[in-house]
Amino acid sequence: MDAGYEAATTARKRLHVITWGCQMNVYDSGRMADVLAPLGYAPVSEPDGADMVILNTCHIRDKAAEKVFSELGRLRRMKEEGGGKMILAVAGCVAQAEGAEILARAPYVDIVLGPQTYHRLPEMVARAARAGGAVIETDFPAEDKFDFLPDAAAPQGITAFLTIQEGCDKFCSFCVVPYTRGAEQSRSAATVLAEAKRLVAQGAREISLLGQNVNAWHGTEGWGLGRLLRAMAEIPGLKRIRYTTSHPRDMDDDLIAAHRDLPTLMPFLHLPVQSGSDRILAAMNRKHTADHFRDIARRLREARPDIALSSDFIVGHPGETEADFEATMQLVRDVTFPMAYSFKYSPRPGTPAAGAPMQVPEAEKDRRLQTLQALLREQQAAFNASRVGMTFPVLFTGPGRHPGQIAGRSPWLQPVHAMGPTDLIGTEQIVKIAAAHPNSLGGELVDHPSQERRSA
Ligand code: 5AD
Ligand code: SF4
Repeated sequence: MDAGYEAATTARKRLHVITWGCQMNVYDSGRMADVLAPLGYAPVSEPDGADMVILNTCHIRDKAAEKVFSELGRLRRMKEEGGGKMILAVAGCVAQAEGAEILARAPYVDIVLGPQTYHRLPEMVARAARAGGAVIETDFPAEDKFDFLPDAAAPQGITAFLTIQEGCDKFCSFCVVPYTRGAEQSRSAATVLAEAKRLVAQGAREISLLGQNVNAWHGTEGWGLGRLLRAMAEIPGLKRIRYTTSHPRDMDDDLIAAHRDLPTLMPFLHLPVQSGSDRILAAMNRKHTADHFRDIARRLREARPDIALSSDFIVGHPGETEADFEATMQLVRDVTFPMAYSFKYSPRPGTPAAGAPMQVPEAEKDRRLQTLQALLREQQAAFNASRVGMTFPVLFTGPGRHPGQIAGRSPWLQPVHAMGPTDLIGTEQIVKIAAAHPNSLGGELVDHPSQERRSA
């Protein structure tokens, strides 16, 4: 072992990151670990004894801040037990929205930083160590953080995420994202493609492009997301491409055509619609109608007949009547969604809908959510059942739960398990589906018959 290596390992500091919320936060947590690596920080899985703990928070729905404060209470005890040396940082959207409140209620927090300032983290750590007081960075800096973040350091594995766009200018009535993540920003095509190639060289076989409004991406003059996907599809060794989350308004013709032209673009699209009522869609400032959404779904299916749609729904937005809710139910029956997320409307301070008249009573929101979720569950079960007997490629990503099993994902993101050798992990294999469970599928490898079958 050379001395340099030994010095580096003895200087190792332990970093624990707790992540709430969306894939974007998961990605950001990885990047925060990347920027701290040159300072000697290496990730650990438990906060006990860590030199630094980062809470990467989410503000999108209920009780976000309360969860943060209760976690902080737990960490405070650990910090005290360790003689106060643990650096505590609160990042993400709660930090952005309630930074001052955090420092007032939890003065033992050392660093508060919003999602736009992660590249400044090493400097903040140094300042916190020097000053012995809290450091807060929740401005939207003039520089673009993407220009300052190092290339992703840690390999992400077989399925990788790559943020290509951040922020949102759409200002839906209910949503905090335009306030916490700021205006839309896209990374250039060259940067994105270089990072994608690096991820593939590190072993990624599937890349999901991420953005709050990923299909509004416009990182390079004359390019839209369709063109970027076409360039991604040229990367040798990249078997699967996905992108999330999209807005119906930005589903342009070229993007829809990419679903027709690119076999590696997976036949699964998360396209939040929020409501099926034109009145509520207008109140939400979505700037599209329910029929516009039906039309996009139809065109996507023409382009790629096996495509499955996933969506987000909110019930009980201010002003939502029983008839509006029924229009949402009708949209779900018309379009059908094998996977979906549905939420009760939750007022977010500072957003237009929070102060709107005609808030829907909680009990009514509960009833609507249960009614909608029962229909969505039915559709998910029917979709899973419809895969039984089908044969399609599964990208295997790890061992299964039972001995001898390996597990991966279908083209439609369903977890799939089959008996098979672990050396198939990291490859796509053809699987014949034999069973559908509520949240997963089971099948048999077509080209690598299982031991039982071979010996039979
Ligand atoms: N209340 C309930 N759901 C919300 N979402 C965003 N803001 C709110 C809110 N205030 C949901 C939307 C969005 C998803 C990420 O979270 O459906 O698409
Ligand atoms: Fe929020 Fe609407 Fe922007 Fe999505 S499009 S992040 S729901 S404001």
